[in-house]
Amino acid sequence: MSVLSVEDLSVSYRIPGGRLRAVRDVSLSVGRGEVLGIMGESGCGKSTLAAAMIGLLPAGASVDGGVIRLNGADMLRLPVDEQRRLRGQSVAMVFQDPMTAFNPVLTIGRQLADFIGAHDAARHNRADIAAMLEKVGIPDPARCLGRYPHELSGGMRQRVAIAAALLMQPDVLIADEPTTALDVTMEAQIIHLLRDLRTSFDGAIVIVTHHLGVIAELCDRVAVMYAGEVVEEAAVDALFHDPRHPYTRALLSCDPAVVQPGIGHLPTIGGRIPDLSALPPGCAFAARCAMTDATCASPVPRHRAAGRSVLCHRSKA
Ligand SMILES: Nc1ncnc2c1ncn2[C@@H]1O[C@H](COP(=O)(O)OP(=O)(O)O)[C@@H](O)[C@H]1O
Ligand SMILES: [Mg+2]
Repeated sequence: MSVLSVEDLSVSYRIPGGRLRAVRDVSLSVGRGEVLGIMGESGCGKSTLAAAMIGLLPAGASVDGGVIRLNGADMLRLPVDEQRRLRGQSVAMVFQDPMTAFNPVLTIGRQLADFIGAHDAARHNRADIAAMLEKVGIPDPARCLGRYPHELSGGMRQRVAIAAALLMQPDVLIADEPTTALDVTMEAQIIHLLRDLRTSFDGAIVIVTHHLGVIAELCDRVAVMYAGEVVEEAAVDALFHDPRHPYTRALLSCDPAVVQPGIGHLPTIGGRIPDLSALPPGCAFAARCAMTDATCASPVPRHRAAGRSVLCHRSKA
């Protein structure tokens, strides 16, 4: 059974003069022991989708339709306090900038104790907290507990944030660009940490990233988002070796890791994401796609086959 799923979820933001449709008819699910990656260029709705999944949408955002299920519960039909209780029990989040997760004037130890105390006072003590810090690769956990957030490097802060999330023993861990704010060395270390955690954490993991290496190293399945929609979803190997949607193909061919050395420039996808408050009819990628023809202006079919879905007139699953 899936731990977390969304069905036909749509989310929009109120903006001057209208609505910006950040997430459109997205259906995804993730099960225990599984890692789902959500990738796509900046502005495609990844963070909005993640925020909706954990009930943390900012003011001005609303869920326009769809279903969110957490451990089988139909979340949007429950009273808000009940939603909060269920999420508090089962979902933990790791953000891009680990600094924002911490209070600058309290020690790490105090914050982890407070944070976990609010969640479940009886279950943890200082030794458990230190053990978890050790597990995420903090070299001297006892010393770390006495430090303030600014005394740690970005990579160490992200380790502590991951430890804090895991101490909650969540069923789902959602990480939004967990390595983006880090330099390359730290990034690699956090990727390795997350990969190691896969063997000991039996919950579901959702990782939002625009970094293809993170997807390749960590994920079982990938959803590719473009202009608020999931344009392709597939097992990670299938997606990398046989991408079907023209946008997925374009993204993969722009990855710095696969570009031939010596060409002197990085390829990019020409054009820009359409204005999400004034979407074109038909396919949102048509204006940037090499395969576009007249059919692309009509509503786009979703093709499904063996573990894959593709939202395109011209490419089949
Ligand atoms: N608080 C907000 N108010 C209005 N528009 C927003 C807000 N947050 C995000 N958006 C818009 O929603 C779209 C999707 O953004 P986001 O979910 O952050 O994408 P991603 O995480 O893929 O970069 C973008 O067009 C962005 O400008
Ligand atoms: Mg984002």
